[in-house]
Amino acid sequence: MRTLTAEWLATALDAPARVGASEGGRVHAPSSAAENPAWGDNRHMSEHEQALEGGNLNPGVVRVGDTVRRSAGSWTPAVHDLLQHLADRSYPAPRPLGIDDDGREVLTFIPGECVHPDNLDMLQTDSSMRRVGRLITEYHRAQTGYVSPPDALWRKDGQDPTGSTEVIAHNDLAPWNLISGPTGWVFIDWDLAAPGRRMWDLAWALHSFVGLWPDSPIAHDDTVRRIAAFCDGAAIDHSDRPRLLDVVVERTRHHSLMLRSRAREGDAEYQRLVDDGHAHAWEQGSNHVAANRDRWASALRA
Ligand SMILES: Nc1ncnc2c1ncn2[C@@H]1O[C@H](COP(=O)(O)OP(=O)(O)O)[C@@H](O)[C@H]1O
Ligand SMILES: [Mg+2]
Repeated sequence: MRTLTAEWLATALDAPARVGASEGGRVHAPSSAAENPAWGDNRHMSEHEQALEGGNLNPGVVRVGDTVRRSAGSWTPAVHDLLQHLADRSYPAPRPLGIDDDGREVLTFIPGECVHPDNLDMLQTDSSMRRVGRLITEYHRAQTGYVSPPDALWRKDGQDPTGSTEVIAHNDLAPWNLISGPTGWVFIDWDLAAPGRRMWDLAWALHSFVGLWPDSPIAHDDTVRRIAAFCDGAAIDHSDRPRLLDVVVERTRHHSLMLRSRAREGDAEYQRLVDDGHAHAWEQGSNHVAANRDRWASALRA
């Protein structure tokens, strides 16, 4: 039986694109407290800026003291509203602190290490699969009752195309957006949040955390055990697990098609991702799950 290695995960998880990509027509949110008093005045925060590596398409992420500054967009007010709801329920996530003088969003800095790419050994065990599944379901529970503002603008890049409003999905729950630190595991990068099916969010996470790539060295039994552990942590009924695998196929295929279609529309960043093989990698990842779906589903039932 081959064991999962951090090296393999690093290779496998490095290949495909992280889902987040800037959308055309990034709109700057109000740039000062005067324009949006509810967001507070962060003008005192102009200390030393430290670039934060690791993002795929948000090159300007910086740390300033205990805060992070990121490009804002038309979606930022809705995302901050959601993050405030999570703060009120003590769900671990960056806290929204408003917009700085440069029009960037201000969030609390989460101390710790990003799991991808240097800490993938944290994902080797079944208990890590349970833990991440639980963290996601805790999020979906925490967002229950959240009512988004009627004029909320959510990004479309990762959005479930069915139009479901079952949850506000994070839409990029993956090792590249998970910080492991002294207070536990915390998901960051909430830019892609949008209404959708809970399964849509879980499917993306299942693929990226279990590592369902065609070149995976994980043996069949181990793959099934990791999927089961994730589902146990996420409290997914046994009867729903085969359907979740179907949504994994759908979710990853949708991402691949989205990358290609944005590139065709002339978006240079998406073209770069397609040229770098990201759309192809997600297509292969999707095909791999489709090819193994029945086998995994029957083993999950056993
Ligand atoms: N709130 C935060 N706390 C701590 N680190 C963060 C935070 N936000 C971003 N980072 C760091 O910056 C990197 C890139 O940020 P991210 O928001 O994921 O950008 P992108 O949208 O490009 O994926 C992350 O990998 C992480 O290391
Ligand atoms: Mg990210």
